[in-house]
Amino acid sequence: MNFHWYSSIVILIVLPNFKITMGAQWSKMNFSDVVQSYGYPVEIHEVTTEDGYLLDVFRVPYGAKSSTKTPNPNPILLNHGLMGSAENFIVGGPTKALAYVLADKGYDIWLCNARGTQHSRKHVHLDPDKDLEQYWRFSFHEIGVYDLPATIDYVLNKTGKSQLHFIGHSQGTTTFFVMGSERPEYNEKIKLMIAMAPSALLGNIKMISLRLLATFKDYLKTLADYLKVYELIPKYLLSNEAIRSITSSFCEEHQVITRTVCSNVFVAMSGFSPEQLDPDTITFLTNLGPGGASVYQALHYAQLVNSGKFVKFDWGPRENMIKYNSTTPPEYNFANMVSPMSLFYGEADLMVTKEDVMLLTTRLPNVVDVYRIPYDNWSHLDFLWARDMDKYLNPHIFRILRKYK
Ligand SMILES: *[C@@H]1O[C@H](CO)[C@@H](O)[C@H](O)[C@H]1NC(C)=O
Ligand SMILES: *[C@@H]1O[C@H](CO)[C@@H](O)[C@H](O)[C@H]1NC(C)=O
Ligand SMILES: *[C@@H]1O[C@H](CO)[C@@H](O)[C@H](O)[C@H]1NC(C)=O
Ligand SMILES: *[C@@H]1O[C@H](CO)[C@@H](O)[C@H](O)[C@H]1NC(C)=O
Repeated sequence: MNFHWYSSIVILIVLPNFKITMGAQWSKMNFSDVVQSYGYPVEIHEVTTEDGYLLDVFRVPYGAKSSTKTPNPNPILLNHGLMGSAENFIVGGPTKALAYVLADKGYDIWLCNARGTQHSRKHVHLDPDKDLEQYWRFSFHEIGVYDLPATIDYVLNKTGKSQLHFIGHSQGTTTFFVMGSERPEYNEKIKLMIAMAPSALLGNIKMISLRLLATFKDYLKTLADYLKVYELIPKYLLSNEAIRSITSSFCEEHQVITRTVCSNVFVAMSGFSPEQLDPDTITFLTNLGPGGASVYQALHYAQLVNSGKFVKFDWGPRENMIKYNSTTPPEYNFANMVSPMSLFYGEADLMVTKEDVMLLTTRLPNVVDVYRIPYDNWSHLDFLWARDMDKYLNPHIFRILRKYK
């Protein structure tokens, strides 16, 4: 077992939907509590998708220092990655995290929570705990085809605008690319899309553990079917107090030795930038919340890694024939993805590599900007919680948003 293999197990166990705490005294606080504690307003909205999923969409309409207390004029939609949630964009706190700093810069911040995450684990008639096979039968495809369009329409309706800015991280970009391909009418609702670690072509992934996982994908699918476990981190597992307390005591401050192991695991997960990981962030991340994705999302990524192409889900020859009129899944249509895009990448990102980002720039028709984070050790998760986000990431985000207003 190599270190990365171990770390990917920990990704699966630890990463999902971390509850928001910066210290023990906050361990019972949720998104709204934390954001409000810094003096920012929060709204919670519920959006219904065409296929009946109910999504909580969070909003930070203006900044803490706003004198007018009315929503800012320019809406931005922030879209999280696999096994993340809206919380991803507040981890860095009010001086760094995008939800806060963009609200302070005069933007109206809306945050997605994809189907299956802890906030959007619901449906008009399906029960995620009982109708397992039906409720959890989605990949990032459905998030792109149903969740994003429904959320975008909702935001534009509420704000009375015809366009918004979009910022995605990792799967938050994959779902956007899916939408561009399958619902091209949504391109014109986007002023600019900022893709942090754009994830569509993954043939050059450097994370050995994920490559390994990709080779075993067929067994994993059979196993999921056999066990009838379709939720990537089943809620019953994470709501189990015993498991939760093992993980959190393992990483608590006073446990010096285990905490070192713990922080190394996070370092392995996020690449090569231990110096960018704040000790508080570790405490923050290890405070677990309930789970957050479908097994099909992970399997679909495994198919992208294996094929090196941006393809639809491979359901097997028979079902593919019914769905796609072809025994193999077709590729998503890059030519349809015409909204202006700005791609951000990290040199030390083991999941979304520079090679794959460069390849992607040759396929996407309207890339207006490619930004290499000017820090050699920048890795996949540094986009969310690097200590120096305010130095290496945020200034270019402000710059490019101003340019495409
Ligand atoms: C957070 O908790 C408060 C009360 O404890 C509740 O009113 C609010 O809806 C919760 N917010 C979210 C985002 O779950
Ligand atoms: C928002 O949607 C409602 C109901 O569908 C509609 O009546 C209203 O005109 C819409 N508002 C805008 C600004 O599009
Ligand atoms: C299915 O594919 C075949 C051959 O590729 C083509 O001739 C046929 O028109 C397609 N059918 C539909 C319904 O698209
Ligand atoms: C980047 O990572 C390398 C190898 O892990 C390390 O030696 C170096 O000090 C790091 N660079 C910075 C600027 O921290």
